Amino acid sequence: MRNPFIAGSFVRAENFFGRDALLREILDGPRNSLWVVGARRLGKTSLLKQLEYVAQESSQSPWVPLYWDIQGAADPRGLADLLIEAVEDSEPFRRATGVVADDLEGAPAHEILAILLRRAVRSGWRLLLLIDEGEELITVAGHDPAVLPRLRRVLQKGPELRAVVTSTRRLARIDEASPLATSPFLAGLIPPLYLTPLQQDEALRLLDRGGFDARDARAIAERTACHPFLLQLIASRFFESRDLAATLEQAAADEMLANFFLSDVHSMEAAERDLLLRIAAEPGCDRSALGAAAGVAPGRADEVLLALRMLGYLSERDGRWTVGNWFFERWLRRTPAAAGAAEAGGRP
Ligand SMILES: Nc1ncnc2c1ncn2[C@@H]1O[C@H](COP(=O)(O)OP(=O)(O)OP(=O)(O)O)[C@@H](O)[C@H]1O
Ligand SMILES: [Mg+2]
Repeated sequence: MRNPFIAGSFVRAENFFGRDALLREILDGPRNSLWVVGARRLGKTSLLKQLEYVAQESSQSPWVPLYWDIQGAADPRGLADLLIEAVEDSEPFRRATGVVADDLEGAPAHEILAILLRRAVRSGWRLLLLIDEGEELITVAGHDPAVLPRLRRVLQKGPELRAVVTSTRRLARIDEASPLATSPFLAGLIPPLYLTPLQQDEALRLLDRGGFDARDARAIAERTACHPFLLQLIASRFFESRDLAATLEQAAADEMLANFFLSDVHSMEAAERDLLLRIAAEPGCDRSALGAAAGVAPGRADEVLLALRMLGYLSERDGRWTVGNWFFERWLRRTPAAAGAAEAGGRP
């Protein structure tokens, strides 16, 4: 039997597990512009690729999907080029709408979007625009702040257009970076939906693919706290090694995971890091022990805790707070200096 686990690239179709309610809300819910916040490797690209897949496969679907990865755009020209690339890459989109990528050359992104929308509607579709790596907009707006209000105007053209933006929490800062505070970009996108770790039953269904002993499967779900990437990584390695204890120990000392965790901690704001490190130092503490976190306004601490819990960095049970999963906790314990340096040094 071949290793059925995929740890690294995005997953979709029969390799995509869970997130039913989120998919339904995005495809059938009332909002025409949505922002989905997820931590690194929590499955943002997979979610968008699954939306694209579902929309393409279902004969009932009113949507013609277009997946637009804006990572590396850097400036408005780059943004437009990546949009044209997205059209070039999607034969189904071009077939459904009759759009020819060459016709879009030279136009700015908001004009291209307007053209795509017109063509989609004329062909009887609603446009489902799936924007990945949304934080790139901060960099693009740094080159030309006028991009944001122009984009925002197109993105809010609903109901013929539904836009889904995925990003980490960092996109929350986009309106601080923009001098054009009169039209906050996020206004139409909030409140965000959170991409959480999987549910226990979804995780166990995924692990079923490995034909593991039920006790081992439960142990993997528990240690990873159903974080989809960690689940797949551990399951994949266990599938090969057949030695769960060794697989867990090796992963806990793994350089790649350590680098992932370090960059996660680096990308946090001071208040987030402060609360995380306190909980790491005092696992199982209750809310009152966290009350006076340095530099965190009382009302904001609850908001930060909620966000970190939704993203899988923290977990809370019966009022007791712990680090989100065993690997992250082990790393924090093993590397207080690295986490502390992140705290002192701020974001890179
Ligand atoms: N719904 C899912 N079902 C099963 N596995 C998943 C799912 N979502 C994510 N994964 C696992 O997590 C890994 C990372 O997924 P993905 O690339 O979609 O995350 P991401 O949030 O886009 O990551 P990045 O922050 O690097 O862009 C996948 O390779 C897969 O192992
Ligand atoms: Mg991604």
